[in-house]
Amino acid sequence: MIKGFIRPPHLRQRLVLTAALSLLLLLFATPASADPPSPLNPFSPTSGAIANLFYLVLAIALMVFVVVEALIIISVLRYRRRAEGGPEPVEVHGHTALELTWTAIPALILAVLFVLTFQALQAAQNPPGDALRVQVVGHQWWWQFNYPDQGVTTANQLVVPVGQPILFSVTSADVIHSFWVPQLGGKIDVIPGQENTYWFEVEEPGDYHGQCAEFCGLGHPFMPIRLTAVTEEEFAVWVMEQLAGSSPPSEDLLAQGKVIVESGVCAVCHTISGTLAQGKKGPDLTWFGRRPFIGGILENNPQNLALWLDDPPAVKEGALMPDYGLSEEDIRALVAYLESLK
Ligand code: CUA
Repeated sequence: MIKGFIRPPHLRQRLVLTAALSLLLLLFATPASADPPSPLNPFSPTSGAIANLFYLVLAIALMVFVVVEALIIISVLRYRRRAEGGPEPVEVHGHTALELTWTAIPALILAVLFVLTFQALQAAQNPPGDALRVQVVGHQWWWQFNYPDQGVTTANQLVVPVGQPILFSVTSADVIHSFWVPQLGGKIDVIPGQENTYWFEVEEPGDYHGQCAEFCGLGHPFMPIRLTAVTEEEFAVWVMEQLAGSSPPSEDLLAQGKVIVESGVCAVCHTISGTLAQGKKGPDLTWFGRRPFIGGILENNPQNLALWLDDPPAVKEGALMPDYGLSEEDIRALVAYLESLK
């Protein structure tokens, strides 16, 4: 009685089941969309090489899958038992040509993958000369970033110039972490007492999201890395800003800024009510520090203001305010003064 229930499912049912499972597998294998910080959405030459390698392996695996599955399905259909009491199938032992083929093809595939992987690894390991050096120190549960050549230190936020190789030397202050910015490169272990090196180069300005990728204790999920890639000029301004320190601008610096505004070229075009600056040609700058934008287009912050003052037409094409060739010191004083107007 029970026998009927455990009878193997009919061939058609089996085929339907196989097809449904294959479809499910395909769904899971669908490449990630462009938005998430996925290694398959690369923005550096090294992560590009890794992504290409992944797609090559995927393509080969898919071909192998299709050929093997096709052979299985053909065999099942063609050599199935057709009638009760038919003849026993012939048993075959050894087939030199077939065995050579199925040894040679995988060996060849592995050899090709070995060579290509080795090349990609070499490229990912050795930076082309002239790299910006950054020391990464993992902590429970935050990141310390030192720029030894610039004398700058930050936490959790990395700012790097685009189009220049960044050479990271990576170590930990406590336990093992893993430094990973998926769109820019592979993971690198962050190990106490050891210095690992690693590099990548960012191709486009923008924000890139990274995360500690090695379980390191309670705060592990809260070890994000925010990497901001900026142009070379913006990076220079950023470094200058970091070196200027975070103490509020001194009275001297503010006074110096005010003097430049009132006696220099600024007053010819701009008004700041309550001061000697009463020019009417350019925008009124009273309470400039409260404005959301600079020139109507750039977010108002000290970094962007420094960029603007350095060369306005470079920021906003057609801007009537010319590049006055202001010194770095003048720019610092002007930024301090103008941003204080709030
Ligand atoms: Cu640090 Cu996980």
